[in-house]
Amino acid sequence: MDGHIDILAIESSCDETAAAVVRDGYTVLSNVIYSQIDMHTVYGGVVPELASRAHIEKINYVIQKALDDAGMQLKDTDAIAVTYGPGLVGALLVGVAEAKAIAWAAKKPLIGVHHIEGHISANYIEHPDLVPPYLGLIVSGGHTHLVIVEDWAKFRILGRTVDDAAGEAFDKVARAIGLGYPGGPKIDKISKEGNPNAVRFTKAKVNGSEYDFSFSGLKSAVLNYLNQAEMKHEEVNRADLAASFQKSVVDVICEHTLKAAKDYGIKNVAVAGGVASNSGLREGLRQMCDANGLRLFIPSPIYCTDNAVMIGAAAFHEYEAGTRSGWDLNAVPGLKLGEK
Ligand code: KG4
Ligand code: ZN
Repeated sequence: MDGHIDILAIESSCDETAAAVVRDGYTVLSNVIYSQIDMHTVYGGVVPELASRAHIEKINYVIQKALDDAGMQLKDTDAIAVTYGPGLVGALLVGVAEAKAIAWAAKKPLIGVHHIEGHISANYIEHPDLVPPYLGLIVSGGHTHLVIVEDWAKFRILGRTVDDAAGEAFDKVARAIGLGYPGGPKIDKISKEGNPNAVRFTKAKVNGSEYDFSFSGLKSAVLNYLNQAEMKHEEVNRADLAASFQKSVVDVICEHTLKAAKDYGIKNVAVAGGVASNSGLREGLRQMCDANGLRLFIPSPIYCTDNAVMIGAAAFHEYEAGTRSGWDLNAVPGLKLGEK
């Protein structure tokens, strides 16, 4: 009760167990992330059952550390926020059950947060001057959306992927060219040594909204390229192939984003999600925005991939709007953007 709103936020929708304390939606008092990546690497991807178990093992520790780092106790917080969807149901349930238990015990309000709303809200941390309306581009492992953020937590969806999400395409292509998991960062790294114009992939046609994306055709094109090279006993330059794939993804994302910004006369563009940490995408969007008089917002890489700070940032605006979840809050694995 010091005039500030301090929110303890919890995130466990996939393979990161995370907790953070965020003050007034903008100031990060603590940010703790326990990544399970090493455990899942052996299997080449996230194993949902293992993810849930690891969340259970680590969640208390992660929350306690977030409070300790912030120099606070549970009783000092103003609300408990938690991601309740979309994500892996077992993984989400761990965070939701934990948040409900501690909010109830400490008599604090509970706020269920949409994971994608969280990703977008990561931008507010380093850019408090970003206010709706603006164009939002969400590129994560499970989602690819181009939206107009009309107001806090009010989204108008312009386009989405009709098949694989951008991060999913990175992960699948990385596996195909033998880079392993997690694919995105590995393709990003090796692309720096490759020629992005070495292999030309044709742009996929999408039947749907002109802002929609399709990445599975591109993934198949990479697989075909590999198969043909193998049949001809030709050696594949993995760096060139990765760089060419990455360029194709960056080009289509920049093209659709620019079109939407022009069509709707929007000058501010905010990017979010794990793929937003891709150096090629950051550079491509930067050039595109500079050349067209748009202002680009991208969180630091640590706030692009899953974390709880972004959940605390989103929860602050929900808190201010009066959103409170009941003790019947449940995990909703298929929660759609804009749904409550
Ligand atoms: O947002 P996120 O942490 O989790 C989801 O909500 O899905 O995104 C994870 C995705 C993974 O597919 C990962 O390969 C991708 O983001 N990713 C990247 C990079 N870092 C993470 N993709 C491309 N380049 C990167 N540097
Ligand atoms: Zn995410």
